[in-house]
Amino acid sequence: MNRLLIDGVGKVFNGDNTREVTALKDVQLSAGSGEFICIIGPTGCGKTTLLRLIAGLESPTSGTIRLDDQPIDGLNKSCTLVFQQFSLFPWLSVLGNIAFALDSKGVPKKEQKREALDLLRLVGLADAAGSKPHELSGGMQQRVSIARALAYDPEILLMDEPFGALDERTRQKLQDVLLDLWRKKRKTILFVTHNIDEAIYLADRIIIMAIEPGRIVNNLSVDLPRPRRRLSAEFTELHVRIRDLLEIPE
Ligand SMILES: Nc1ncnc2c1ncn2[C@@H]1O[C@H](COP(=O)(O)OP(=O)(O)OP(=O)(O)O)[C@@H](O)[C@H]1O
Ligand SMILES: [Mg+2]
Repeated sequence: MNRLLIDGVGKVFNGDNTREVTALKDVQLSAGSGEFICIIGPTGCGKTTLLRLIAGLESPTSGTIRLDDQPIDGLNKSCTLVFQQFSLFPWLSVLGNIAFALDSKGVPKKEQKREALDLLRLVGLADAAGSKPHELSGGMQQRVSIARALAYDPEILLMDEPFGALDERTRQKLQDVLLDLWRKKRKTILFVTHNIDEAIYLADRIIIMAIEPGRIVNNLSVDLPRPRRRLSAEFTELHVRIRDLLEIPE
């Protein structure tokens, strides 16, 4: 189960000193259990707002968001957000960061270390368990963030440009780490990116958004078999098509 249904959702921000902003207008989107969806669109088109609405950090001004037919009311405990900025606790070790999440999930103390190490192994970082976050590279910290997100055992993983700050090679490696985790854990993933190739490499489906007002303008299935070859003709063809839909000039 765990079907996410976003039905006619709008979000208008109306700040004290700012003009009214329609961050999202009439958004219609559903995500099946275990589906990998990428969201791409120009800056300010409401991608982060959409993830925050799904997480229950904001509420929509119109429409509804339901998970398995239950409207989301307040914080959505079925979701975990992963941001571009590494948001690890600097005073805790890598292992401690993961154990913290396990603890808040109610995992008994004596099982936390073993489970944390299992998760670190999944992201290829068991050797860094005793390190502090600042001793790790950005790519390694983002692996820890992903392991910590999984420690919360969410049904839906919401990822907001998680690899945006990384170099291309590290980014590609982490894409493979994420696909591997997704295959093993079968979470539903909503992944925001500005990188067209990243979306094509990862997604079952790509949602394309536009601005003013923020809205969904296209919904493309990616039917290429995995592992996908970034330089293949089909990949490149899809890249060009998405560039066109995003109205990016040559
Ligand atoms: N708390 C807020 N108060 C007022 N306006 C907001 C708030 N949050 C977002 N907005 C506005 O809503 C619009 C959508 O913002 P959002 O951050 O969702 O865009 P985005 O697609 O994530 O952009 P980016 O690609 O730059 O991250 C923007 O115009 C932004 O200024
Ligand atoms: Mg954003």
